[in-house]
Amino acid sequence: MDNDIKAVQELIAQAARRAREETREEEGKPEFAQKLKWPVECTIGPGLEGAIACESKIGYVNGAKGWLIYRGYDIFDLCAYSTFEEVSYLLLHGELPTAGQLAAYKEKLINYRYLNKTLRLLMGFPVEEMNAMGSLRMGTILMRQEFTTLDRQESRPALDDAISTDDDSIPMETKPVGHKRAIYEFRSRMRRRRAKKERDDAIGVEACYHLIAGVPTITAAIARVRAGHMAIEPDPTLSHAANFLYMMSGKKPTPLQEKIMDIALILHADHGMNASTFASMVVASTLSDIYFSIGSGIAALSGPLHGGANEQVIRTLQEIKKPEKVDSWLRRARKEGKKIPGFGHRVYKAYDPRARVLGPLAGYNIERCDEEIVNLYRTATALEKKVLADLSASKKIFPNVDFYSGLVYRRLGIDPAMFTPIFAVSRVAGWTARVLEYLQKNRIFRPRAVYVGEYEKEYVPLEQR
Ligand code: ACO
Repeated sequence: MDNDIKAVQELIAQAARRAREETREEEGKPEFAQKLKWPVECTIGPGLEGAIACESKIGYVNGAKGWLIYRGYDIFDLCAYSTFEEVSYLLLHGELPTAGQLAAYKEKLINYRYLNKTLRLLMGFPVEEMNAMGSLRMGTILMRQEFTTLDRQESRPALDDAISTDDDSIPMETKPVGHKRAIYEFRSRMRRRRAKKERDDAIGVEACYHLIAGVPTITAAIARVRAGHMAIEPDPTLSHAANFLYMMSGKKPTPLQEKIMDIALILHADHGMNASTFASMVVASTLSDIYFSIGSGIAALSGPLHGGANEQVIRTLQEIKKPEKVDSWLRRARKEGKKIPGFGHRVYKAYDPRARVLGPLAGYNIERCDEEIVNLYRTATALEKKVLADLSASKKIFPNVDFYSGLVYRRLGIDPAMFTPIFAVSRVAGWTARVLEYLQKNRIFRPRAVYVGEYEKEYVPLEQR
């Protein structure tokens, strides 16, 4: 095995040991560790904090322990020994693939990398000038033209099978009544349609493969066009991570570059009910289709409070300029009440395990890098040290996944505008897996708002206002 790969595996093993040691004292038991009995009581904060939307077997995040688990497997082990192909299969199907299953899955992904028609349509737009996430979202929706079943009349759910689920049929003041009377959209007649459902499920999984393989092709094409080059054909001999790097840069990556991209893709693949996953699931719950769902995930991911933070981190480090300026920059930022990009998390109140891996990867053999990267890395570590000293004890603020991911991508020569699209290249695995799982027991999402406005106001004609 390549020495660099061995060294990277050792870095990950060290990160795993540190994670265990530093959180030994924390209570690690999940609050709900078995099947839920609906309706469930929980305390909800603004932004649906604490709300339970569904059960899932896909992944688990323990914010106090700093755990991230996919289908039972620890993220540190998956990063060290697995590949994105294995991990995306695991997320979708629930088990690691056998050799035969993996070979068949890889072949599917390789075939679905070719999106000539989609790219032709996409390049009809001024992609070089557009927001990269906007282009990616559009490209994903254009993929739908090639592979969709819902537009065929016979595949549409028949409306007479649907029992009443419209908003107004559920009085707003009524508490959820739970499983027995839960309003699943297509209940009794579903059994009679089992054969058709099995066929639809197969098509559903196929569309997931199409998206997992296609989102990187579109992202790479956007990266190239933005850099003033033509999009290039995929290389069927390369792995998912290596082909993605190749399609962006036009150069075949080294084994170390391939491993680093593979790790980054594994780390970002799933993360509980985060905003973009939830956005995808909300759209899917209307029985819209998976391409529209994933398009919504991409839109949600683009915001600076979510996936957009990785680009902001690099811009911030560039603004700080050098490690010696961290103190004064941070003092000013805190005085102005600014949030520091790449720090803090809704769930993690410990060090984010993904940042534990990405930090050492960003710094691996840093002396081999050019001056710009070395300076960015040193500024980042100085900022981390200062923020930890100021905020980790009082506010439980630690670096999150976005803090070091941008530096890792800079080392691979990637333009900051492409950082968030790369997040989508990975997270599409989690989005599709969670959408498929949720559709097994679909119920349209419909939380409520508490009305705090006025009543019984008299209408005033325009000329009297
Ligand atoms: N810098 C400084 N203070 C922070 C930061 C930060 N990055 N994040 C949170 N805080 C403080 C808040 O000011 C708040 O303090 P207060 O109690 O005195 O008011 C407290 O910590 C709680 O913060 P909230 O914003 O309420 O936490 P929330 O769970 O709503 O938000 C979020 C989490 C959006 C990630 C937030 O930490 C943030 O904006 N971070 C910066 C952006 C970022 O890095 N986003 C990427 C997140 S990872 C991902 O989405 C992939």
